[in-house]
This record gives sequence, C-alpha cells and structure tokens, in this order.
Amino acid sequence: MEAPDRNLALDLVRVTEAAALSSARWLGRGDKNSGDQAAVDAMRLCFQSLNITGTIVIGEGEKDEAPMLYNGEKVGSGRGPGVDVAVDPVEGTRLLAYGRPNAISVVGIAPEGTMFDPGPSYYMKKLVVPAGAAQVVDLDAPVEVNLKSIAKALGKDVDDLVVFVLDKPRHKELVDDIRKAGARIQLHTDGDVAGSLMAVDPRGEIDVMMGTGGTPEGVLSACAIRALGGQMLTKLDPQSETERQACLDYGIDLNEVLSVTNLVKSEDTFFAATGISGGTFLPGVVYSGTGANTYSLVMRGKTGTLRRIEAHHSWNKLMKFSSVKYD
Ligand code: FBP
Repeated sequence: MEAPDRNLALDLVRVTEAAALSSARWLGRGDKNSGDQAAVDAMRLCFQSLNITGTIVIGEGEKDEAPMLYNGEKVGSGRGPGVDVAVDPVEGTRLLAYGRPNAISVVGIAPEGTMFDPGPSYYMKKLVVPAGAAQVVDLDAPVEVNLKSIAKALGKDVDDLVVFVLDKPRHKELVDDIRKAGARIQLHTDGDVAGSLMAVDPRGEIDVMMGTGGTPEGVLSACAIRALGGQMLTKLDPQSETERQACLDYGIDLNEVLSVTNLVKSEDTFFAATGISGGTFLPGVVYSGTGANTYSLVMRGKTGTLRRIEAHHSWNKLMKFSSVKYD
C-alpha cells in the first residue's frame, strides 16, 4: 500500500465545495431529500478527479438504499493511495431544508483499514473537549463531575462553560444535569460534527459537547480531531432494541469506550468541510451574479495543519457540477 505523502485535503476541499455549491440552492426550501441528492451527485462526480484508491466506510448507507456513495463503493481515480473514506455530503439535512445555521458538507480520509466500521450502529454517546481537558474526562462519570473537572483543567468556573447539546427528547435528563451543575447550554436541533469541532477549538464559544448523536458523524469528527487536537470519548448507544441486537450480532462491544485513536487508528488523516448554511462554525455559500463564494476548513492529521479557504467559483464552473437548473 502506498502511503499518502501529500496534502490530499487540498484536493478534498474541491469535493466538499462542489457538494455545498450544489446543495445550498435548496436552502430553506423544505425538501431535505433534494438538497441531499444535489450534494451527493456533485460530490460523487468530483471524487473521480481525486488521485486516491478509496473505499467508502462511512457513506450514505447500504447499496440497496443508497445508489451513490454507498458503504463499500470505490471512489477516486484508482491511481493513488488506498484510503478509507467517510462522507457526509450534507451534515444537517434538516438544517439545510429549514434554512437553519451550520449545515456543512464534510469528507474525511485515512489510510486503508484504519477507520472504525460502525456496521449497523446508528447512535453513539459522545463527550468532546479541547486538548486542555483531554486528560480529565471520563465518559462514565456523572455530568457534574465531568463539568467540574473540565472547568478546572481549562482554568474556568463551571458557570463559564458552554455545552453543545443536540435538542432531542433523549437529552432531557442530560440537559437537567448540566443545568443543575451550573453550566450553560447551546441547544442545536442537528449538526454534531460542527458541535464536536467547535468543542475542540479552544478559541471558540463552545467548551464541551455532550450527548448522543450519529455514529458515522463520530468517525468523521475523529478524522478532524486527529488534526485539531482535543479528545472525543464515545460509546455506542443504540436507540432501539433492533439496533442493539444488530450491534451485538455484528460483534460490537457495547460497553467499550472508544476514543479518537480507536475511531481512526492512524494520524495520517485528511479532512475538509465547507459551509452550506452560514453559522458560527463556517459561513455558508453566497451566490452572486457571477458565481458563488464558499468557505472551507481543510486539515491534515499528520502535521496538524488547519487551513481556512475562501474560494470564488465562476458561474460557468458552477453549472458543470450542479444537478440544479439555473434559469
Ligand atoms: P443528517 O444530516 O443525516 O440529517 O444528520 C444530522 C444529525 O443531527 C447529526 O449531526 C447527528 O449526529 C444526528 O443527526 C442525530 O440523529 P437524530 O436526528 O436521529 O437524533
């Protein structure tokens, strides 16, 4: 297997830019499937020009329900290194459909065989903190204990902390516990990849992310955290008996705590994210008469490089990879 020796994230960003440019046309139009489809079409087309021999490990689902970017699908030109690929053409399909902030397009890659395969697991419990608090967190400890330890490690008081939580009925007790402990909360309807990446950024307004979100989103976030630093502790958290049994049948240990290094076993990761709807994480796509502007983050795990890329795309180029008609 040939080792990736160049910054593939700089090529990868074209894939997320294409998906964002195409899907942002669906902002607030109430149609999450069309927004997602536009992103999938654009992303898949763009992958062809990437010099990787990629296998999708985290994709749009099983082949029979996802005709494109399905788990196991080969992507890339086939001329480059063998890599595992994680995609989420629209992370936050409802955010896009309802015109809410922080819908993003994301892709992560890592050397072949190094990404955690979620199998039939949809949900995992996550605790995400910046590097300064990485050593003091314990996924199984009570919320109050973790918040006190995190605050101390970051040199803050508990009531200085802001915790990102997905606004879901399953988090009622978690929200009560955070409030009782005295920390503050940002509730977001969706988008815990952005939540995780905002939590590991020591300069941001989020200090911690807590709660249960998607397993694929956890693996994708781990690709980026490999570059950004910080810690994410996770444990699979099936939300139905069917999911629980499927995980057990797949041979998954439901009690195991998986950290970033378990979710992506190599530090040689690449990650790109482009904003679709603007928010605190990234500005969204801005269309103009001549084209559009996109805002992206690209990261490389091995070197810890983080780049912010603002790109202007000309109208003609935009039409090439868009499945949306412009008239
Ligand atoms: P989609 O883009 O697939 O809609 O996922 C959005 C999301 O909010 C993720 O960020 C999160 O991990 C997951 O859904 C949570 O799932 P659920 O909405 O079922 O609780």
